[in-house]
Amino acid sequence: SRQWRGVLREYADRLDISDATPVVTLGEGGTPLIPAPALSARTGATVYVKYEGMNPTGSFKDRGMTMAISKAVEHGAEAVICASTGNTSASAAAYAAHAGITAAVLVPEGKIALGKLSQAIAHNAQLIQVQGNFDDCLDLARDLSANYPVHLVNSVNPDRIEGQKTAAFEVVEVLQDAPDFHIVPVGNAGNYTAYTRGYTEELERGVTTKLPRMFGFQAAGSAPIVLGHPVTNPETIASAIRIGNPASWELALAARDATDGYFGAIDDDHILAAYRILSAEVGIFVEPASAISVAGLLERAEAGAIPAGSTVVLTVTGHGLKDPQWALRTADGSDVTPTVVPVDAAEIAGVLGLSKEA
Ligand code: F0G
Repeated sequence: SRQWRGVLREYADRLDISDATPVVTLGEGGTPLIPAPALSARTGATVYVKYEGMNPTGSFKDRGMTMAISKAVEHGAEAVICASTGNTSASAAAYAAHAGITAAVLVPEGKIALGKLSQAIAHNAQLIQVQGNFDDCLDLARDLSANYPVHLVNSVNPDRIEGQKTAAFEVVEVLQDAPDFHIVPVGNAGNYTAYTRGYTEELERGVTTKLPRMFGFQAAGSAPIVLGHPVTNPETIASAIRIGNPASWELALAARDATDGYFGAIDDDHILAAYRILSAEVGIFVEPASAISVAGLLERAEAGAIPAGSTVVLTVTGHGLKDPQWALRTADGSDVTPTVVPVDAAEIAGVLGLSKEA
């Protein structure tokens, strides 16, 4: 057996890198594609979950960040900058730390999950909370990278998309073809674009017989692509995808057209319902933004848009431990309070509803 070497080394021949590119890796990629019988039973499709929370910093961003930071170092950058709803900042901070360069991260003040904030600080990023939303942060990051010696590592940097396409390669390796449908959460639509590129390359290589229909979901309060216009004050509990003016909007529309794809919106209640189904029935813990893939599947299946027997892959983008507070709330909005007992087996048996064996 050998250790997985990270996406740059595993897919060196299929990425825009050369022998001169230093490989800055934390072993990202190689994430599990997990069959989800409970979701198959609910929909009549054959459903798999691509668990991107298993990446080194707990999100899919690491696939793009290994590429973006490696290229930045290749080009002599000593500092990188990004705007983020949290995961990109955690990833940029970790990969920059590993490379021995500086990361500056701009995040909307008070609007990112505690786990992600902690990661950026732990990895020694220069964390700046901006009194604005993500879209303001991205405008600022673009402005600063254009005018100061600091390299932009948001997904408007093509290296990010290039690294992220490797997730599609991994799916194809397991399924031996593309799935019929692939569902992803959508914020800036970089990942939607990246999967489409990965699958398109697999088709061109003759490894697959088709493109999957790419289905992307935005939170109802932050659904600019679905609405067809930017959203000035995006709102949703899925903080990772609270984005009103997606950076890869045009690319995503092209990807949708090329794959006979679809963009839909899901409200927060349905996101949280799907979040509970995924953790309680499948055993996979994700952050709320990731659960929108599950919610989107259930909504499309209900609408009759997923024929029985279809193969469906859901990407769940970020680990549940990043933003765990949502697990401690019931569907009716009350707090979950775990039962407290004295040191007494009989009392515990009573709480568990167990009666003694005869
Ligand atoms: N899911 C999670 C957990 C994310 O963090 C993001 C984006 C997305 C989905 C959407 O991906 O932007 O490629 O459409 N997070 C970015 C960040 C914006 O700053 O961490 P996308």
